[in-house]
Amino acid sequence: MNNPGQIKVAVLVSGGGTNLQALIDSAAAGKLPHAKLALVLSNREDAYALTRAKKAHIETAVVTRAACGSQAAFEAELCRHLTEANIDLIVLAGFMSILSADFTARYPRRILNIHPALIPSFCGKGFYGLHVHEAALAKGVKVSGATVHFVNEIPDGGEILLQKAVPVRKGDTPETLQRRIMEQAEWKLLPRAVELVARDMAKKK
Ligand code: GRF
Repeated sequence: MNNPGQIKVAVLVSGGGTNLQALIDSAAAGKLPHAKLALVLSNREDAYALTRAKKAHIETAVVTRAACGSQAAFEAELCRHLTEANIDLIVLAGFMSILSADFTARYPRRILNIHPALIPSFCGKGFYGLHVHEAALAKGVKVSGATVHFVNEIPDGGEILLQKAVPVRKGDTPETLQRRIMEQAEWKLLPRAVELVARDMAKKK
């Protein structure tokens, strides 16, 4: 059901979609009263996140860079879907494609991203997926964590909204550290950030 007090949210994904699942579960538990998960957009046809979205009866669409031919055409197609669905807020949840300055400028303070480290550590170009945790372990940091930030034209460079620290343990592998950061930080922070921003946006609507 459409609730007029709710902000329409699109979640952009590329992979497993555990962060999307955290949003779906939060919504089902009544923890996202100001946000409606209205659309899941994937740039990969085989993203398991799409299955999660369908199970939750959320509209889905697939837009691949290859099918579009150019970055500009790819982003135009993303925009078309976002506009058609009247999306107010975009959430990048494991979306493995860097968006151009043209795209981010269209949605100022309207795009959120979750990064699996404490920005400004281990962030920016090349720091995605397991690479982030490999770099953190190579440096020998004793805490890492996750950050939710607004997205601007600088990769991982927009205003920080929420952060949570997570301990690094002796014997950690990139995989074990990734999992702990997801469980203890990402899956909690992202729903909280979405509700915070949606509530603020709803006030101004
Ligand atoms: C997460 O670690 C997220 O922080 C990063 O990509 C990963 C996505 O995982 N941006 P999932 O698809 O949400 O499971």
